[in-house]
Amino acid sequence: MAIAYLNEQFLPLEHARISPLDRGFLFADGVYEVIPAYAGKLFRLDKHLQRLAHSLAAIEITNPHSTDEWTALFEELIQQNGGGNIYIYLQVTRGATTRRDHAFPNPPVAPTVFAMTGHIATPAADMPDTAQGVTVVTLDDIRWSRCDIKSVALLANILMRQQAVAEGAAEAILIRDGFATEGSASNFFIVKDGLITTPPKSHLILPGITRDLVVELAQQNNMLIEEREVTEAELRSADEIWLSSSTKEVVPVTRLNGHTLGDGKPGPLWKQMARHYVDYKRRLCGL
Ligand code: PDD
Repeated sequence: MAIAYLNEQFLPLEHARISPLDRGFLFADGVYEVIPAYAGKLFRLDKHLQRLAHSLAAIEITNPHSTDEWTALFEELIQQNGGGNIYIYLQVTRGATTRRDHAFPNPPVAPTVFAMTGHIATPAADMPDTAQGVTVVTLDDIRWSRCDIKSVALLANILMRQQAVAEGAAEAILIRDGFATEGSASNFFIVKDGLITTPPKSHLILPGITRDLVVELAQQNNMLIEEREVTEAELRSADEIWLSSSTKEVVPVTRLNGHTLGDGKPGPLWKQMARHYVDYKRRLCGL
């Protein structure tokens, strides 16, 4: 039975109840995190908690827990859900009030804290020699200009992902003013002539925890990498394209807008990165 956490209580997920006056429900007034755990061990938790603190501060919700409290809560939730390779979905909203009003409640109410777990499917990086690549399409980035906040207001992301799925693709890479920003739920990298490039962190993208790890691993392993804007034309002419996210790790793209990249197989630099990623994961989580 799946166990969730809601406002100081662990309970069966199906028994968790939220008020319709919760501002998360009425306004999507809240933020979230997705944190992977391997063999029950939280992966890069400090980075996820730093980003959570950034998101909460950006929308003026007081962080309801200290690092130690969050850690204890997540460890308990993992244990109650049987450990293994799972991710934690955490959502913090501005809380439930007595009436619908756009302005923040005054005085503030207690935030709603909800967490549950989900299963992590075997990522492509775990099988670098047999992994298949995914198909992506480019779409106009129709989001707001604070994409650095991990907001639960994901309507634009949902519409873009759905359009990608309707076109037979796994993900959309988003284009704003001629530059590729990120995926609808991932960051991206291109490889051209042996050089890996990913857009710099800004308010136009989510600062992905996996993105940062891929940059770190490239630097540690003497792979050439730079962080700079990527034009739509560069994306289209890339030798390799990768997507990154906490639940999928680093995924090779083999088709873009109906065109096959290279020989249609995951590229050699992706294979190298996949090996570094898996080694790092094994070392960190003692797998
Ligand atoms: N999404 N960009 C966007 C818009 C995202 O939603 C995500 C992750 C990422 C990658 O970030 P990270 O490496 O920290 O997971 C980039 C999560 C997984 C989700 O919404 O489920």
